[in-house]
Amino acid sequence: MFLTKEYIKELKTNGNGAIGHLVMQYKDSNSITFILENLGQLPDNFDDSFLPDILQHKNSDVRLWVVKTMGKTGNNAYLPTLKQVALKDEDTTVRREAVSSIGRMRDPAGKEILFKILHDKDPKVLSQAIRGLLVFKGDEKVDKHLRELINHPNETVRTVIYKEYFATKKANSIQPHTESYDYLKNVVVNGDTIETMKLLQDESIHLTFTSPPYYNARDYSIYQSYQHYIDFLAEVFKEVHRITKEGRFLIVNTSPIIIPRISRSHSSKRYPIPFDIHPYLMKMGWEFIDDIVWLKPEASVKNRIGGFMQHRKPLGYKPNSVTEYLMVYRKSTEKLLDWNIREYDQKIVNESKVPDGYENTNVWKIDPCFDKIHSAVFPVELCKRVIQYYSYKGDLVFDPFGGSGTVGKTAKSLNRYFFLTEKDKSYFEYMESKKTGEIFDNFQTKFSTLWEFQKTIK
Ligand SMILES: C[S@@+](CC[C@H](N)C(=O)[O-])C[C@H]1O[C@@H](n2cnc3c(N)ncnc32)[C@H](O)[C@@H]1O
Repeated sequence: MFLTKEYIKELKTNGNGAIGHLVMQYKDSNSITFILENLGQLPDNFDDSFLPDILQHKNSDVRLWVVKTMGKTGNNAYLPTLKQVALKDEDTTVRREAVSSIGRMRDPAGKEILFKILHDKDPKVLSQAIRGLLVFKGDEKVDKHLRELINHPNETVRTVIYKEYFATKKANSIQPHTESYDYLKNVVVNGDTIETMKLLQDESIHLTFTSPPYYNARDYSIYQSYQHYIDFLAEVFKEVHRITKEGRFLIVNTSPIIIPRISRSHSSKRYPIPFDIHPYLMKMGWEFIDDIVWLKPEASVKNRIGGFMQHRKPLGYKPNSVTEYLMVYRKSTEKLLDWNIREYDQKIVNESKVPDGYENTNVWKIDPCFDKIHSAVFPVELCKRVIQYYSYKGDLVFDPFGGSGTVGKTAKSLNRYFFLTEKDKSYFEYMESKKTGEIFDNFQTKFSTLWEFQKTIK
């Protein structure tokens, strides 16, 4: 008889051991797996007595489907067998499935087994036990066992336990999630970004997109040492974290840089900025989301390969750097992205939909932009994508390192508000000189010193 899904469906309702006979008849692992996989929901009169006999099968897929089917029967007589598989099977996927089956039975008799599995070394097996036990949340013994996992070495386990038992309901933010303060809308402050941010309330902004100074590679910022520079960035992003609304995004554009050698007897030095600031961001409560690579045409970047082209000596290979990173982070929260999205009116959600032509991959080919006054400006296309993909209409977009104001200009053209800080007076005045037509009539761009800005905060 040729095995088909229809045939299996027909046999399973017979209730006279027909499936068991079929399994014994075929014996080979592919057929047994096919039969068990296609059983679907089990009828009340399903004869499951053949299951223990094939649990010793050498093929792990067969064993996996046997324990899964045992779980589906809801027959708690299988609990001791499932316990043995959960603790002893050599295949960790089978062990995980056995724990899942114990959990699926929702039988109080399974609790003691699941407690034992909370000590398992495989976090995936252990997570299934947590899942099974959470069905009994509120039971004193269950809560006690689960709470103890708050110091577990595995971060996913800790996060689940934190969310279930330790996350205190936050006092509602003073402001609805979608709104922002008028005194921050379309404002450019000429001042140090940390000093300025210190004046802001917690949870004031929706999105930050920025390109920090490139250590000492350009002349607008001079840091005493690389560590001073990294510490400075860490302090900036800590403040950004505080003023960012729950679950919203930070996109940092950086790339490894090169500091030229001081003489021919020394070598130049590369500094991997994105990789060095990443651990700081993770520690301060940013969740890593994506790494987007900005790819530039080779003709637009500095030529480093020239020497190698001549000598071709291994170790002396220095490729032209045609990429920069856009590291995407989200302010950590137990809330899912859906929560953020649901806070908006349907009208805003519809109006903010990303138009056709969006980028499918994390490699964005965009030409760099050159400006006669500022040496490191964002291309508008880059800003446009980030703002469209990571904010909604009417949101407040922040750039702590405003530069020539590309983030502000682009945010405004996309019906978002912006807030920029820029320390350098000449760049601030450059932005002011470019002030053009306003999109938000009620919120003309305001250019203030830190002192003037401070007076506008209510
Ligand atoms: C890489 S540029 C940003 C360019 C900008 N993305 C644009 O499109 O024009 C970095 C800027 O940060 C400014 N800056 C450096 N340190 C600062 C600080 N402590 N506070 C505010 N701005 C600062 C620099 O003057 C520079 O204009």
